[in-house]
Amino acid sequence: MQESISTSNTPILQVKELVKQFGGNRAVDHATFDVENRSITGLIGPNGAGKTTCFNCIAGALSPNDGSIIFDEYNITGLPPYRIFDRSLIRTFQIPQELAQMSVLENLMLARKGQDGERLWQAWFHPNKIAIQENELQESALEILDLVDLYQHAHETASSLSGGQRKLLELARALMGQPRMILLDEPSAGVNPTLARKLSEHIEMIRSKLGITFLLISHDMDIIERICDKVIVMTSGHVLLEGTANEVFSNSEVQNAYLGSQYR
Ligand SMILES: Nc1ncnc2c1ncn2[C@@H]1O[C@H](COP(=O)(O)OP(=O)(O)O)[C@@H](O)[C@H]1O
Ligand SMILES: [Mg+2]
Repeated sequence: MQESISTSNTPILQVKELVKQFGGNRAVDHATFDVENRSITGLIGPNGAGKTTCFNCIAGALSPNDGSIIFDEYNITGLPPYRIFDRSLIRTFQIPQELAQMSVLENLMLARKGQDGERLWQAWFHPNKIAIQENELQESALEILDLVDLYQHAHETASSLSGGQRKLLELARALMGQPRMILLDEPSAGVNPTLARKLSEHIEMIRSKLGITFLLISHDMDIIERICDKVIVMTSGHVLLEGTANEVFSNSEVQNAYLGSQYR
C-alpha cells in the first residue's frame, strides 16, 4: 500500500466554518466537521438542514461563500468538480437518460477519469496503446461489476436493472474513478428494505476491501445505525452534534430537531 504516514491520523476531510447562502437564505451556516480516513460517516438531519448543499460545496458543484474544505491535506475550497474528481473525491450520480440505454459495462467504461483528454492524440500516434488501455479498462470494469454483484448483467442495458441494482451501478461508476472517498446522497431512497440492506453491505465490504472512506447522507436510520462509525447531525445549516448512532439517536436535542419531521 502506498500511503503516506502523515495522512494516517489526519482526517481525510475537514470542513471548517462552511457557509453557503442562496439570496437571504443561509443554507449552510458555519458548518464544521471532520471525516476520518477509512470511516463510514453518516450525515443526518431534518429536511432543509443543508446536507445536500454541503455535499454540493464539497464536490465543487457549488462555490461556498465562506469557510474551507480540506481533502487529504489539500485545500479544495471552490475548485471546479473535475479538479475535485481528479483528487479522488467522488460523488455518485443518478444514471442519466443517455446512459440508461447503454450497457452496464459501457456505463462503467465511460466513468473512468483521464480518458477523454489525450484520446484523439493517442489514437493517431499510439494505436496499440489505446487498445491496451481499452482492455485494461474493461478488465477493471468487470472486476468492479463482480465486486457489486452486477457481473452477470454486464451486457444488459442500464435501464433494464432494478432500482436497487441501479444504485449499485451508480456506486460502481464512482469506483471506476479510483476514489479515496465517496459521497453518497440518500443512496437507499426509493429502494426496498431488502435491497437497501444489500446496498449497505456492499458499502461496508468496499470500505474494508478497498479502504475507501464514505460520507453518507441518509434518512434510513436502520442503515445509519448498522454501518456508520460516526454520525454528524445537521440542523439549520450547522452541526448540532456528533457521535455514534446510539449516542445521537438517544440525544434529546436531536429528537427535538426531528420533531414534526416525517422521519423520526
Ligand atoms: N439551488 C438552490 N437555490 C436556492 N435555495 C436552495 C438551493 N438548494 C438548496 N436550497 C435551500 O437550502 C436549504 C438547504 O437545502 P438542502 O441542502 O437541500 O437540505 P437537505 O439536503 O438537508 O434537505 C433549503 O432551505 C433549500 O430550500
Ligand atoms: Mg438533501
